[in-house]
Amino acid sequence: MRSLGNQDEQELGGPLSVLTRQKRDHVELGRLLAELADTVPAEQDPVLRRICRLVFPHAFAEESVLWPVIRRVLPDGERLTLQIEREHQEVNELMTALEALPRDAPGRATTLVRLVEVLGADVRDEEDELLPRLQDAVGVRRLRGLGAAWELVRRVAPTRPHPVVARRPPGNVLAALPLSLVDRVRDGVDVALQRGPDRWASPLRSVSEILTRLAHRIEHLPGLRRGEDPSTHRP
Ligand SMILES: [Fe+2]
Ligand SMILES: [Fe+2]
Repeated sequence: MRSLGNQDEQELGGPLSVLTRQKRDHVELGRLLAELADTVPAEQDPVLRRICRLVFPHAFAEESVLWPVIRRVLPDGERLTLQIEREHQEVNELMTALEALPRDAPGRATTLVRLVEVLGADVRDEEDELLPRLQDAVGVRRLRGLGAAWELVRRVAPTRPHPVVARRPPGNVLAALPLSLVDRVRDGVDVALQRGPDRWASPLRSVSEILTRLAHRIEHLPGLRRGEDPSTHRP
């Protein structure tokens, strides 16, 4: 079993393999985290938003497409994927906490340090153990098929943290469409807030707040926690 970090594209199954696609995103995350470390707190929000848009669809597609396959093909797939789901859950909680904290809040720096730590641990657990185990268990054709399915889901998945919904099907799959729609409209509103004229700022902020409340209500709809292992959420 070799870490994805020590394998070239051909060894990972070519450009369409899920392993190549995963590694590509993980490299991009490393680049964004380095950029975040070099950015003063007052200017970190746009970098954090780019991290969200990379990380949450990536993780959602893992949870809904890849981990169920791993649970079927590996005898200890349940234990391995549960560990990753707990990391994803903590990332969802930390990012939600960060969004609510003012830039000069005392807890912000420690929350950010922990976020970077958990994101790093998640990448290492996937690249060094979980995905090489998948690689040993299935053939290249399957890796490419999983790559296509993962990519498809990633493109339509929610782009923001949603710590209330399940990290597993069927709950997370039921949550995907409505939350993805709301998230993507919120992303558009954020871009308009950043680039639009000042007179748009107040109405756009109101729209953003309405969408935040809407997302929160959707998260609490019945059925969206279905499938979850209770230990995924910390007490
Ligand atoms: Fe990943
Ligand atoms: Fe992950």
